[in-house]
Formats: sequence, structure tokens, C-alpha cells
Amino acid sequence: MRVLVCGGAGFIGSHVVLELKRVGWDPIIVDNFVNSQLSVVERLSSLTNTNLQVCSIDLTNRNEVLELFLKFNPDAIIQLAGLKSVTESTSDPLLYYANNLQITSNVLFSMSEVKCSKIVFSSSATVYGLPKYLPIDELHTITPINPYGRTKYFQEQIIKDWILAQPYDASAVILRYFNPVGADASGMIGEAPNGVPNNLMPILGQVAMGERNSVTVLGTDYETRDGTCERDYIHVSDLATAHVAALQSYQTDKFEVFNVGTGRGVTVNEAIEAYSALLNKPLPRVVGSRRLGDAPSSVAAVQKIEERLHWRSNFTFEDACRHDLRWRRNQHG
Ligand code: WQD
Repeated sequence: MRVLVCGGAGFIGSHVVLELKRVGWDPIIVDNFVNSQLSVVERLSSLTNTNLQVCSIDLTNRNEVLELFLKFNPDAIIQLAGLKSVTESTSDPLLYYANNLQITSNVLFSMSEVKCSKIVFSSSATVYGLPKYLPIDELHTITPINPYGRTKYFQEQIIKDWILAQPYDASAVILRYFNPVGADASGMIGEAPNGVPNNLMPILGQVAMGERNSVTVLGTDYETRDGTCERDYIHVSDLATAHVAALQSYQTDKFEVFNVGTGRGVTVNEAIEAYSALLNKPLPRVVGSRRLGDAPSSVAAVQKIEERLHWRSNFTFEDACRHDLRWRRNQHG
């Protein structure tokens, strides 16, 4: 089965490509490499002992996308491509609306042209905004509090409107990621964002590697068990197998939404302790003030994906730290 993985050279996308190969699919990587490196493809090819097909195109260009679809006539699409910085989306919202919505619109247009019947879309728990109850299930109100989260929800709705208008049998699965972390156990691929990371896990990794002096705990007076924010950190390899499960699922409904998480929360302090335990020495930490927009706790309800896709997470946060460190040490040779 041939599947186009749009954003396939990125952090999540590269792990999705790897898991697809492991179960015999034929993934084709589509990426413009604005936030990924071509070296990822070489490492994926050696990991899978195949020459993976790569197409470097501008997914915001409708003609380029259509040409790609006519060339490959894919059985399915996994759409992960897009800009994903909450901070940047706030300072440059039009960039995010123009880029992210255009990409998905072009993908759907081309799907119609070749009657491609399945799309799996990379969404985010950011669409929920500040949780009104925990754990967060798929019926929670949708109140994104930043432009990035709104682009994710708008793309979900564009897909829904598109799928309901198709005269042929097509279906869509929306995966709302909680907090992706870690790296493939091989240590050959992992998170390698261009620029300075804002997320906790890559920051812990930089401190562990001596690239950063300390981690700043952004607030210690939250209503949580230890005063620091709690998140549902999902190992990127588990997240990738959720995409495989979504692709292979038989759908009664044309449009399905699933949270993808572990169902368990980890606080910032617990995350620092876990990473420190790997090194047998405490990671230096500095207490800082709260970050605007942070919710005290965000944890996924995972019953729906477990029951309907027969998928659940396997790796722990400690596994994610161990695999992240292995990846970082490999990067430094
Ligand atoms: C986690 C916790 C911080 C950095 C973001 C995006 C979301 C999704 C996942 C794409 C928070 C704390 C962080 C630091 C800290 N990405 N922290 N010191 O904010 O939950 O979600 O990534 O879909 O869209 O919003 O993740 O890793 O930034 O923060 O104390 O130096 O760690 O306050 O509580 P977040 P994060």
C-alpha cells in the first residue's frame, strides 16, 4: 500500500515512516525540509535497508501537489506538514493560517482528483485550550487559545467538510497528539528542530548534553501534586504506531477523532528527576515564573483510541528520556 507522508522528514513524520516500513507499507516522504534535514532520510533508508522515495516540493503550491498525486496515485495520505510553533504563531498568525491551511487544502484537492480514499491528519491537544475537566476526552470543548491551535482545528473542519462532500468512498482520521517526546530506540532518528527549542524534553536533553546550563522550571505554584505543570508525554514511536493503526482501521464513520496519549501525567519536576536518574546526577534547575497560556494539567483520556483502534502506548516517560539521550549522544558521535 502506497502512502504519501507529508512532513515525512520531520520529528513525528520520520518515526511514522519507520513504523510504516516495519509493517510492510510503502511510504513516500514528502517534505520541503524547512524544519528537517535530508540526513534523516539517509538514516531512515539504512534503518529500513531500502532506498526510501523522497519528494521535496512546496506543499503550498497546488500544482506541485497535484503533480505529485498524479505521479504516485497514493492509496492513503498522512498529513503532518505544517508550521508548529505556538510562540511563532502568536507573533505571525497570517504565516500560520496561510501556510498550514493551504497545505491541507492542496492535499485534499489532489486527493479528490485521484480519488484517494484515506487521510490521517496530525492534529494536537492544543485545540482543547485550557482543560475544563481531566482527563481530556474527544468530547471536550474546542477552545484553542493560540493561532497554532486554531490552525489545527480549522484544518480538522476543512477535512470534515471535504470528506462529507466527496461522491466517492473516503474517510478521515484525526489524531490529536498530546506531548510527543523521545526517539526511536535505535538512536538513529529523533527530535532535531532547526533553531532553539521551547519544549521541555529537548531542553532537558540539551542540559544533559552540556549544551545548556540549566532548565528553568516555568512556575512552581500550580494546583498540581508538586506545584509544577503536568503533561501527558507520549513516546514518539507509540505516536507513530497510532498512525499505522489509524491507517489500517476499518471505519464505520467517515470522520473520526482520537486523542493520542498515555493517559498518565508527568509533572515538570518528575520529568527532571527522570532524566536526572539516567545520568546519576541532578540536572541543574532554576525556578522561573509561569509561562503565559500554560495549563496546570493536560492529560488524555485514551479509552476511545484503545477500544476503536485497538492501540495503546507501550513506552514510559523514562523510556523516552533514555531514547532521547541515546539519540543525542549518537548525534555527537
Ligand atoms: C511542557 C511543560 C511548561 C519548557 C507544546 C505545544 C503543543 C504541542 C506540544 C504541537 C509546560 C514546562 C517547558 C521549559 C518548563 N506541540 N516547561 N521549562 O506547552 O505542553 O505543549 O508542545 O502540537 O502545541 O503547546 O509543551 O514542552 O513546551 O511544556 O518548565 O524550559 O513544561 O511550562 O508546563 P506544552 P512544552
